[in-house]
Amino acid sequence: MASEYPFRRIVGVESIAELHRMAQQNIRDYRSPTQRCAQIEVVYADASEFVFPEAPLVLYLFNPLPEAGLRRVIRNLERFLELSPRTIWIVYHNPAMDSVMAGSRALVRVGGTEQYSVFTSEPSFKVAGSQGFKDRIQRYRQP
Ligand SMILES: C[S@@+](CC[C@H](N)C(=O)[O-])C[C@H]1O[C@@H](n2cnc3c(N)ncnc32)[C@H](O)[C@@H]1O
Repeated sequence: MASEYPFRRIVGVESIAELHRMAQQNIRDYRSPTQRCAQIEVVYADASEFVFPEAPLVLYLFNPLPEAGLRRVIRNLERFLELSPRTIWIVYHNPAMDSVMAGSRALVRVGGTEQYSVFTSEPSFKVAGSQGFKDRIQRYRQP
């Protein structure tokens, strides 16, 4: 679905090995005359440890996680936004845990219906720090 839009790159994150392999196969098999992004990959990882690309981001979540897992993913995202402030967009489909997202100081809900919510990064979300950007990103990337 995302590849019908002109994204520069699409990255899926899947933590179950078999589903990861199936996703890889789906990507190999997928052909559509209306496809506008061919740069698609899937990463086998826990989304709460995923290192987000340093680029403008649209995150699509289809209610993928129970509450505790979603909190970890949002904490990971907050950490990224602390170190690499930027505007991101989150499309949260079937937003059963909207309150978890809305509880994040890093995010603000800007729209939606009962079927989805749209969040963006809160511009005032910053963490004080004197280290340079590159140092801070390096620290973020170290496990
Ligand atoms: C509701 S399905 C979403 C399916 C797919 N994204 C879609 O749009 O049709 C949730 C998926 O998230 C995966 N998942 C759950 N917890 C995860 C985590 N911590 N990191 C990465 N993937 C996770 C599950 O294995 C499952 O494949």
